[in-house]
Amino acid sequence: MENETKNLDEYGMYINMLETGKRYMEMMNKYRCAIMEVETKLKVLNTEFSLQYDRNPFESIKSRLKSPVSIMEKLRRKGLPINEEVLEQQIEENLFDVAGLRVICAFQEDIYALSDLLVHQDDIQLLRTKDYIKNPKPNGYRSLHQILEIPVFLKEGKTFVKVEVQFRTIAMDFWASVDHKLRYKKNVTNEEEIMEKLRICADSITAIDEEMQKIRNMIEA
Ligand code: GTP
Ligand code: MG
Repeated sequence: MENETKNLDEYGMYINMLETGKRYMEMMNKYRCAIMEVETKLKVLNTEFSLQYDRNPFESIKSRLKSPVSIMEKLRRKGLPINEEVLEQQIEENLFDVAGLRVICAFQEDIYALSDLLVHQDDIQLLRTKDYIKNPKPNGYRSLHQILEIPVFLKEGKTFVKVEVQFRTIAMDFWASVDHKLRYKKNVTNEEEIMEKLRICADSITAIDEEMQKIRNMIEA
C-alpha cells in the first residue's frame, strides 16, 4: 500500500510535467498535428470517392489525444521504468495510441478499401495491423486497428509520428460503445451471463453487417 501511494505521487509529478512542461507540450503538439494530417488524408479520399462513385466511404471520424493520466497509466501497466530523462523516449517508443483516430464506415468492404488507399500513400508507413474483423476478440469486439507512422514537418525539420487508426462499421461502433460503457460498471454479480449476452449481440451485429453489405452489392451490381 505504501508503495502504491509512493508510485502515484511519483506519477503525479510526471502527469504535471506532461500537462505543463514545454518539451512535453511540444511532443503532444506533434501528435496533434499527426491527427490533423491523417484526418485530412481521409477527408481527401472521401471527397474523391464521392465524386467518382457518388458515395462516401466513411460516415464520420472521431479523434482524440491520449490524456497525460492515461499515458502514465499505460506506461505503468507496461511496467516500463520512468524517470525524467527517459519519459519522452518511453512514450514515443512504447505507446502507439497517443494520437488516435476512429473512422466509422457504413459498409465493411469500405473499411478495407479506405485503409488500403491510406496505408499505400508513399509518405505513410504501416507499422502494425490488428484485424479484429477477420479475427474478432473472444468477447465479440470487432474493428480494424492499424498503427501508422507519418512525417510531420515542424520548423526544426521532419519528424515521424505514430498514429493509431481504428476502422469500424456503424454497427461495430454501436456494439463497442455499449460494451465500453458497461465495462465501467462495478459490482456486477452475473458477469458471465452479461459477457455471454454481449457476445450474442456481437454475432447478431456481424450478421446484420453482412446482410447490409449484400444489399449494397445487389444495388451496385
Ligand atoms: P490497449 O492498451 O487497450 O491500447 O491495448 P493494445 O495496445 O493491446 O491494443 P488493442 O489493439 O487490442 O486495443 C486498443 C483499443 O481498441 C482500446 O484502447 C479500445 O479503444 C479498443 N478495444 C479493444 N478491445 C476492446 C473491447 O473489447 N471493447 C471495446 N469497447 N473496445 C476495445
Ligand atoms: Mg489503446
